[in-house]
Amino acid sequence: MMTAVELRRLRTADLDRIEELERESYPTPWSRSMFAGELAKPSGICLGAFQGEDMLGYLIVARYVDAWHVMNVAVDPVWRGRGVARTLLERLFEITAEDPDRGYTLEVRVSNAVAIHLYESLGFVTTGVRRGYYTDNREDALIMWKDAEPPV
Ligand SMILES: CC(C)(COP(=O)(O)OP(=O)(O)OC[C@H]1O[C@@H](n2cnc3c(N)ncnc32)[C@H](O)[C@@H]1OP(=O)(O)O)[C@@H](O)C(=O)NCCC(=O)NCCS
Repeated sequence: MMTAVELRRLRTADLDRIEELERESYPTPWSRSMFAGELAKPSGICLGAFQGEDMLGYLIVARYVDAWHVMNVAVDPVWRGRGVARTLLERLFEITAEDPDRGYTLEVRVSNAVAIHLYESLGFVTTGVRRGYYTDNREDALIMWKDAEPPV
């Protein structure tokens, strides 16, 4: 179904394209400096999906004490529905498989059925709601959680 997509760590040189994708993906986009801040954290995992030089999507994950926190994931609108976000998240689980102490968590708008379905299909469950979490429209956030894989 998918043509070959390569994943690699994001770099500062990717920020222009990240900003472009971000603006196409969110009503209240992150600023460039928010991305630069996440990319600069040595403990974070920031991945891009590429076809050649073209960035199709990205995943920004921060390491917290008890969890890997999925801060941001977005895919180019013309590439959606082809498994790019799933591939990025599956790579996150591979990279962090040796870390039995941290599960995975994220917030998602209650209206974002596509994203919620994606996360559920990857093993996330809803553990709570943050009322009025999104400041643009006071929408609630679901808090989702996925346990660390038990060591094999
Ligand atoms: C959410 C988002 C990142 C998904 O990226 P994507 O690459 O299209 O997702 P995938 O193709 O990997 O889809 C994986 C799953 O998502 C769901 N999905 C994807 N597109 C869908 C659609 N149009 N309708 C319903 N479900 C859909 C399906 O469950 C799909 O599983 P399947 O492959 O078994 O059918 C993308 O839609 C996006 O960038 N949205 C805007 C930003 C955003 O909302 N990010 C999440 C914030 S928490």
